[in-house]
Amino acid sequence: MSFQKDIYDYFATAALGIEQILAQELAALGAQEIQVSKAGVRFRGPLELGYKACLWLRTANRVLLVLSRFPAPDSDSLYRGVRKIHWTDHLTYKDTLAVDFSASSSDIATRGVHTHFAALKVKDAIVDQFRVVTGDRPSIDTATPDVRINVYLTNGEATVCIDLSGDSLHLRGYRREGSAAPLKENLAAALLLQAGWNTDSVREQPDRAFLDPMCGSATLLIEAALIAANAAPGLMRRYYGFLGWQGHVPKLWQRIKEEAQSQHVTNAKKIPRIVGYDSDARAIRIAIANIERAGFTGIVHVEKCDLKMAELTSKKGLLVVNPPYGERLGEIETLKPLYKDLGDVFKQRFKGWEAYVFTGSRELAKSVGLKTTQKTVFYNGPIECRLLKYEIF
Ligand SMILES: C[S@@+](CC[C@H](N)C(=O)[O-])C[C@H]1O[C@@H](n2cnc3c(N)ncnc32)[C@H](O)[C@@H]1O
Repeated sequence: MSFQKDIYDYFATAALGIEQILAQELAALGAQEIQVSKAGVRFRGPLELGYKACLWLRTANRVLLVLSRFPAPDSDSLYRGVRKIHWTDHLTYKDTLAVDFSASSSDIATRGVHTHFAALKVKDAIVDQFRVVTGDRPSIDTATPDVRINVYLTNGEATVCIDLSGDSLHLRGYRREGSAAPLKENLAAALLLQAGWNTDSVREQPDRAFLDPMCGSATLLIEAALIAANAAPGLMRRYYGFLGWQGHVPKLWQRIKEEAQSQHVTNAKKIPRIVGYDSDARAIRIAIANIERAGFTGIVHVEKCDLKMAELTSKKGLLVVNPPYGERLGEIETLKPLYKDLGDVFKQRFKGWEAYVFTGSRELAKSVGLKTTQKTVFYNGPIECRLLKYEIF
């Protein structure tokens, strides 16, 4: 028997700092009862919404379908709570499964939770139920399981979920190789949305260009093009966690994918100019390969060019750049002239544009030498970074 409900509880996870942008994306998809929390957003809706969230969310890491929430002050209560769930609704003994377990830092500190041990307890509870009910048990595949189970413990409460995404949603399927320090695709999308680059604003101002003068492997450019083309960022992914789940409804998923394909703007003339430069020839080679895989050859233009020479003739435009920001003191000193060049280039050649610099170094940001009109904190992995806005008159 498979598990069917009219309305499900979901949790979409995201990097710290992205939660509000993710909530806006979910509202646009029609999610109900949206609640923003740390590193994620809770929401409710039908299965269709879960599929759309996997396919359309640009800034999420994972989309989880909540099966149960219960108090789990110790490992025995965790085992009992997991065992109460009817696992045969979700997978068969012939399927493979994986268990991801995480706990809030306070639970790890105060309750002494060992995440590896807790993950084994969860797996044992599922496998033991199968042995009793079917006489056989599913096996483990941690890479691409049929069903990935996600358990999160916070304030002594366990939340048990099916991971509908299966793998982090930043893996769009267009990037095989990154140049030095590439941005994650979902962070890049969050920076662009924060900078006001969304499908509606792009449609309203088709003559507004986009430039990344230090584009590396082209992450910002490709994400900007996906937004401009109203393309679902998940269309190129082959693997989702729901494909092997017993609750999956293939016809519904097929329809949602076809709708996404039909909304995709394929006419290059309808997309604004999107251009990238980098001084490193290898980065440009990687960028070209990624742009091709993403289907934007002839639409997104990149070339080898040093920042000092960067120029783009367009009265209006948005410039978003993620310069290197080095972590050690020596590196910071050597990078200061590069940040000063950024400020000079903005003033001299990009009048009338809006520019955003994403950096993990406040010290380097000062070297830009221009007044910032907005600062937003985002986390690039563990590093606290800022997206700084400059309006160039
Ligand atoms: C942090 S990486 C950008 C990563 C990029 N956002 C991505 O996702 O792949 C910084 C880039 O700046 C480039 N760069 C450094 N100095 C430069 C300069 N003077 N002119 C142009 N590009 C430069 C580097 O080659 C590198 O690709």
